[in-house]
Amino acid sequence: MQLKDKIIIVTGGGQGLGRAMAEHLAAKGARLALVDLNEERLAAAVTACKSAGGDARAYLCNVADEEQVSGMVAQVAEDFGGLDGLVNNAGILRDGLLLKVKDGVIGKMSLAQWQAVIDVNLTGVFLCTREVAAKLVELQRAGVIVNISSISRAGNMGQTNYSAAKAGVASATVVWAKELARYGIRVAGVAPGFIETEMVASMK
Ligand SMILES: NC(=O)c1ccc[n+]([C@@H]2O[C@H](COP(=O)([O-])OP(=O)(O)OC[C@H]3O[C@@H](n4cnc5c(N)ncnc54)[C@H](O)[C@@H]3O)[C@@H](O)[C@H]2O)c1
Repeated sequence: MQLKDKIIIVTGGGQGLGRAMAEHLAAKGARLALVDLNEERLAAAVTACKSAGGDARAYLCNVADEEQVSGMVAQVAEDFGGLDGLVNNAGILRDGLLLKVKDGVIGKMSLAQWQAVIDVNLTGVFLCTREVAAKLVELQRAGVIVNISSISRAGNMGQTNYSAAKAGVASATVVWAKELARYGIRVAGVAPGFIETEMVASMK
């Protein structure tokens, strides 16, 4: 794949897999828009991408916020003078059993736990894909969107919220591949197993 000078948004690019993918793309000459909530980590990731050989800029943006996402995509296209791709990588965990039972029900997965993960891991992917696809159509540019699902999409204990979101990402990837191919936009997904990052270190 020719990545030199391609303008690519990587969400959750401040650390973990997002930063690793960004550095890899930077080493191939890509121009990266790193999106995250953590300003300090974003700044370190931008420096790392630049020393790997690519151009990079930081964008503070919550992928679950519709206004912030549409503003961020417009800003990236303006700053770089175009757009070619998106890696939908930002994600969170709020693990817990649906029910905790010990002489009766002593705990439940809260609605807040459910909603937080659906908001970031599923709605965030929907919003970023929609806005990037719309920008690519507007600019009449072909592009590539890669979604990070997970092995947990098949159903992992303690991850009702995460498994549902990652299964949603996997099926939406197929929908968008079918819908967007006519505009020259290719959509694909990756569903990794466990990789040692801060996210995995936080799991029980
Ligand atoms: N590490 C694994 O084993 C593994 C396996 C399968 C899938 N994944 C997926 O890969 C992706 C990256 O995982 P990781 O292990 O690098 O996690 P991580 O926690 O190390 O990094 C996630 C990044 O996303 C950012 N982020 C979180 N919420 C955000 C929001 N609302 N808006 C913008 N940025 C936000 C965080 O600040 C962080 O920098 C996630 O989608 C995760 O579900 C990870």
